Amino acid sequence: MNKVTQFVSYEKMSKYVANIIEDIFKKSFRMSFPKLVLPTGSTPLGLYEELVKRQLDWSNITTFNLDEYIINPNHLQSYYNFMRMNLFDKTNIYPNSYNFPDRNTQAYEDKIEEHGGIDLCILGIGTNGHIAFNEPDTSFESRTRVVDLSDQTIKDNSRFFDTEQDVPRQAITMGLGTIMESKRIVLMARGKNKKDILDEAMFGRITEEIPASILQTHDNMEAFYCD
Ligand code: GLP
Repeated sequence: MNKVTQFVSYEKMSKYVANIIEDIFKKSFRMSFPKLVLPTGSTPLGLYEELVKRQLDWSNITTFNLDEYIINPNHLQSYYNFMRMNLFDKTNIYPNSYNFPDRNTQAYEDKIEEHGGIDLCILGIGTNGHIAFNEPDTSFESRTRVVDLSDQTIKDNSRFFDTEQDVPRQAITMGLGTIMESKRIVLMARGKNKKDILDEAMFGRITEEIPASILQTHDNMEAFYCD
């Protein structure tokens, strides 16, 4: 059974997850160099700010982003741009060490495998229980692929765009099967509007209707929550 740890503030939750990442970076001389999966959305912003503040050495780190819209990568709201603005351009990570899924989805899967798999995968959760862009009724076996976004997700993500019409209708996402192969998973959820879906995902029925519910079956997974 998974445990959900509740933090008294967003700052404390962000710092706690930054500590997990810093710890992995520090131990990296003893293990092979860390491979991380990183999310976008508003929830990880405090974490990224904290990581930047700590001026960690990213020179040996490889990252894979969870997902990307089908959008021009130079668009302000592309996840590529989001990650560069909020994290990558503020660290010493090498540009060829951060990876985003594109239409060549098998190549993304292959690259993760060539790197020996993922050491730590950080996730957010959508209000409908999606993780990455794996919407309700996604197969638990799914791999990296092109997906249609649900009406709920288009509505939720319209806050980042001028109008709802501007939100891309499709994206590329790591699959649930791909995510579940990560050696360790940390899920971050922020806000009262996420509490019910988080509880349902972590303690309710394991069902493809709630993609995040598959995480209950991972043996090294933690969820963190703050209001
Ligand atoms: C998007 C991303 C998800 C993220 C979700 C929640 O849909 N594809 O990976 O978890 O948004 O975002 P927020 O943290 O802004 O609530």
